[in-house]
Amino acid sequence: MGLLGLGTVGCGVVKIVENHQDKLKHQVGCSVKVKKALVKDLHKDRLVNIDEKLLTLHAEEVLEDPEIDVVIEVMGGVEEARHYILRALKNRKHVVTANKDLMAVYGSELLAAASENNCDLFYEASVAGGIPILRSLVDGLASDRITKMMGIVNGTTNFILTKMNNEGSSYEEVLHQAQALGFAEADPTSDVEGIDAARKMAILATLGFSMNIELKDVQVKGISSVSEEDLEYSKKLGYTMKLIGIAHREKEKVEVSVAPTLLPHAHPLASVQNEYNAVYVYGEAVGETMFYGPGAGSLPTATAVVSDLVGVMKNMRLGVNGKSMVSPQFQKTLKEKEEVQAKHFLRVHVKDEVGVLSHITNLFSNKGVSFEKILQLPLKEDALAEVVVVTHHASLQRYEDLLEELAGMPMVKEIKSSYRVEGEVAV
Ligand SMILES: NC(=O)c1ccc[n+]([C@@H]2O[C@H](COP(=O)([O-])OP(=O)(O)OC[C@H]3O[C@@H](n4cnc5c(N)ncnc54)[C@H](OP(=O)(O)O)[C@@H]3O)[C@@H](O)[C@H]2O)c1
Repeated sequence: MGLLGLGTVGCGVVKIVENHQDKLKHQVGCSVKVKKALVKDLHKDRLVNIDEKLLTLHAEEVLEDPEIDVVIEVMGGVEEARHYILRALKNRKHVVTANKDLMAVYGSELLAAASENNCDLFYEASVAGGIPILRSLVDGLASDRITKMMGIVNGTTNFILTKMNNEGSSYEEVLHQAQALGFAEADPTSDVEGIDAARKMAILATLGFSMNIELKDVQVKGISSVSEEDLEYSKKLGYTMKLIGIAHREKEKVEVSVAPTLLPHAHPLASVQNEYNAVYVYGEAVGETMFYGPGAGSLPTATAVVSDLVGVMKNMRLGVNGKSMVSPQFQKTLKEKEEVQAKHFLRVHVKDEVGVLSHITNLFSNKGVSFEKILQLPLKEDALAEVVVVTHHASLQRYEDLLEELAGMPMVKEIKSSYRVEGEVAV
């Protein structure tokens, strides 16, 4: 094999291949060797001992070498990686990648190129690192019809929300802690604004629903505006807040979103702590299943990469490379806002005057949005009160119309926050 990149994941791949050589040989019938590894800096300290002669600064030494059967892309980035993968496939090399940024945007193009060249292109590590979720959707649940997936697929945001929840700290404080511990990047935008999770949900929805779901189809809201007060109220009402990716199919229409979401404390996803990931999958026949594990890290991610490599090599022995990829069965049809049904948590600051609550409840009733719970609490600030509502299911369109009208009411000072709610709290 040839490696494009020898960083956190690439070094993990080398370690696993070295340490599990006997097992790999038993599984695929031959030994597995690294022939070349593309890097940016030949003299950098690496997490593995590797012969310097195997390192190169020139991609063609990997992509054009006839002795390299499988290219492992673990360098990251989008355009360069895409260009290298297309070149590898053109040269009839199978590809394994861990690159969700790339697969969420160019997945269908790259899979088509792989198929044209009778090559495999596997990408298990691109979603939820060490959890074998893609293979479970494609193989393990192949006989079922998946209707819904809910995922905690970004470790950084789960770490931040867990700490905020457990320690009552602010978003900014915990973000700094996460950066110091290496759980958040110096520029955390892609994680905290939900974009990384959205990429993974696009990949999950594409495979789970057999529809070409793209990043632009995912509605995204991140966690950067989540406050300690939101978490306090969530807890009091029996909910835990998580950044949840939801992919839901009803008949043949789908919605895919990523947003801070309130889950009942008893929901299995509510207990997923720190940087861990989990994906909850509902199948018509199987019912509810949950996949849980480390979403990142050198060895967990490399495990998924090397398992894909084993898959490629087994296909090589059988002469069936490029045959296992099934193109999407269904035309993509996204739900309109009127068709997206959800419950919502809403926190509003209003004037502390007689009759305000009845004006608000009238608005809800006029808009056809009923509520499960409503609380009114005085605020320290003079003449203001806080109203917290959990609605019953309502269409997104109705709920958004309601928010717009609510914001324009003279007694409403500010809509502080609004989040999706999933599931029922046991009374
Ligand atoms: N880290 C994780 O836990 C994790 C989990 C799931 C998926 N992934 C995905 O796996 C991929 C790799 O992540 P990583 O954490 O291993 O990254 P990393 O530690 O930054 O390693 C990247 C490697 O690629 C090399 N590289 C980058 N750009 C290059 C270029 N233009 N030309 C030549 N070499 C280049 C770097 O060379 P130098 O070493 O010489 O700088 C380095 O060896 C990414 O797509 C990431 O999203 C990572």
